[in-house]
Amino acid sequence: MNQQTLVLVKPDGLKKSLTGNVLTRLSETKLEIVAAKIAKVSRKLAEEHYEQMKDKPFFEELVKYIRGELHERRKVMAMVYWGEEAIVKVRELAGATNPEEADPVSIRGAYGRITTRGIYENVIHTSKNAEEAEREIKLWFEPDDIILDLYPTKQVVIKDKKIRIWA
Ligand code: PPS
Repeated sequence: MNQQTLVLVKPDGLKKSLTGNVLTRLSETKLEIVAAKIAKVSRKLAEEHYEQMKDKPFFEELVKYIRGELHERRKVMAMVYWGEEAIVKVRELAGATNPEEADPVSIRGAYGRITTRGIYENVIHTSKNAEEAEREIKLWFEPDDIILDLYPTKQVVIKDKKIRIWA
C-alpha cells in the first residue's frame, strides 16, 4: 500500500552536516520525495507538532530542540516521503526513538545521542503511523507544496487570489 510520511532533519542533524547522509540512507528505501523545504520553526508549530507530549516533563526542551535553540540552527529540513509502506520503511532506517536503544547502523544509532540532561538528540523525526503522518504533513505543508494530491483540499479566495487549503 502506498503511504506518505513526514521526515524532519532536526537542528542537530543540520549542525552536524548530516543532511546528505540522511538522504543517502533514506534513498535505500526507493521511496519518492514529494515535498521538501527548509523551515524556520515557530513556537506554535513546535508545540502543535509535539502536542501529544505536552504533559511530559521534557516538553519544553523538546520545543527548544526542534526550534534550534539548543544548536544555534534555527531551522529544520522537512520532507514528505511517499511510496510502498513508506512509514515502516523510513522508521526502520531511522532506528529506535531512543538513540541509545537504536541499532548502531540505523540513522539514530549512528548519529544520535542523549544529552547529559537526558534529552534525546535523535537527528530525525519520522511519523509513527498513518494518522500521525496526515496530521503532521498538514501541519508542515500546504497542498501546493506537495507534488501529489495526498489528502482532500478546498479552494478559498484570499485577497482576490485562489488558493488551496486542506479540507
Ligand atoms: S515515537 O517515535 O513518536 O513513537 O516516539 P515517542 O516515544 O512517542 O516520543 C515522541 C517524541 O518525544 C521525544 N522523546 C523524548 N525527547 C527527549 N527526552 C526524552 N526522554 C524523550 N522521550 C521521547 C521523541 O524523540 C519523539 O520525538 P521525535 O521527533 O519523533 O523523535
